[in-house]
Amino acid sequence: MPNPPSPAVLSELETMLGPRGFTRDPQATEPWLTDWRRRYRGEAAAMLSPASSAEVAAIVRLCAAERVAIVPQGGNSSMVAGATPDPDGHSVLLSLRRMNRIRSLDADSGLAVCEAGVILADLHSAAAEARRRFPLSLAAKGSATVGGLVATNAGGTQVLRFGTMRGLVQGLEAVLPDGSLLEGLSPLRKDNRGYDLKQLLIGSEGTLGVVTAASLKLVPVIGARAVAWIGLRSPDQGLKLLRRLESALPDAVESFEIVPQSALALVLAHIPGTRAPLGEAYPWNALVEATAPEGAPEPALAEALGEALEGGLAEDAAIASSEAQAEALWRLRESISEAEQKDGPAAKHDVSVEVSAMPRFMAEAAAAVEARFAGTRVNAFGHLGDGNVHFNVRPPAGAGPGWLIDESPAVTAFVHDLVAAAGGSISAEHGIGQTKLAELERLGEPARLSAMRAIKRALDPLGIMNPGKLLSASTGQESLAESAVRP
Ligand code: MLT
Ligand code: ZN
Repeated sequence: MPNPPSPAVLSELETMLGPRGFTRDPQATEPWLTDWRRRYRGEAAAMLSPASSAEVAAIVRLCAAERVAIVPQGGNSSMVAGATPDPDGHSVLLSLRRMNRIRSLDADSGLAVCEAGVILADLHSAAAEARRRFPLSLAAKGSATVGGLVATNAGGTQVLRFGTMRGLVQGLEAVLPDGSLLEGLSPLRKDNRGYDLKQLLIGSEGTLGVVTAASLKLVPVIGARAVAWIGLRSPDQGLKLLRRLESALPDAVESFEIVPQSALALVLAHIPGTRAPLGEAYPWNALVEATAPEGAPEPALAEALGEALEGGLAEDAAIASSEAQAEALWRLRESISEAEQKDGPAAKHDVSVEVSAMPRFMAEAAAAVEARFAGTRVNAFGHLGDGNVHFNVRPPAGAGPGWLIDESPAVTAFVHDLVAAAGGSISAEHGIGQTKLAELERLGEPARLSAMRAIKRALDPLGIMNPGKLLSASTGQESLAESAVRP
């Protein structure tokens, strides 16, 4: 088990980092000790805010020597409490937010080298100024940081065309659990020197090291975009529509997000300034974005949708006629989590199955959940085109605040069992964090889990890197016990 930092260690950290890099002030640390969903509350012995990779390395070296646990944190927008420390207050919170420099942005090579604390929206703006674009986007873009996006292999709303962070990271710089600096920001397109440590760190949720910088791939700027809100009968109709649009507009469809009427109603009720985009309420809706590069003709989304409506692949559609209207449609989609949060508790799931199987899964799983847990209401929305929806289950009307603690674990186990039976994943894009750790251990394939534990033990034998996230905190300790009995 890691140790709480001694007064001497804390004072060494304070001297090392100075007043801007070290604080124990409860007012300064308070916002960073609770997760975004406000379900986990932790404590930290101190919050460290290094200004450079060298400082991160020095912190990790000292913590390794003293066996002090480190919880790396970026924008604190994890959906699975992946950056919230334990309540015992024994760990140090390592904020990367001060490291927010874009070290370089080269339009010709199409690469931006960003420190871990660069906020996604700032990267979008900097790339746009250079007439380039970083194509990953998500609702938390105003606070999510590059380090967190890498550490969680973030997805978002543009995965359909550009993939997740795994495909967008060219190189990584990271501090490993022994304090050594892995300098992997090289712009080489080809590099075959053994294990892919970059991919190992992407999605490792801070359990194998601290990402300090990433070199990210940029794509050509958008010349024109067309955004539409479409009324649908079902997700099945939605997926058929997506396939039709992809054939009609090759390489243009970037997003296809599914939104049930229940989610739209929550947004309209809780988010000021929003309004229904269609004259009638449809049981399902899709938000579609199609783009064209500079110099190319605007994507003919209106024509394609006209044909789809005639062919019975959609019920109604509204096409944004200005950027402001396009943004208003996106706001409806991106506010779902916030609106759901304002409405009250829900059992939240982030699941994937094979894309073609998702419409059926959504229908059958919703019916099964609502039959098994009387009064519950499924609110499943999100990235239908990726086979990933946020299959959230709202409590019966009038359920008290205890529902989340007392009832929702059974709902979650039921949903995850359905996902496992469908050959799917219980974490499509949010990661495991603390929230899904027990479920991963319950449902994960033994070979996958034991390989992950072996990697964790090999790289972090002291178990100091973000303990209690992704894998149970005992993983590092077991290694010591095991190695003690080995000859
Ligand atoms: C989204 O797709 O809106 C995000 O992943 C957030 C969420 O699942 O709540
Ligand atoms: Zn999502």
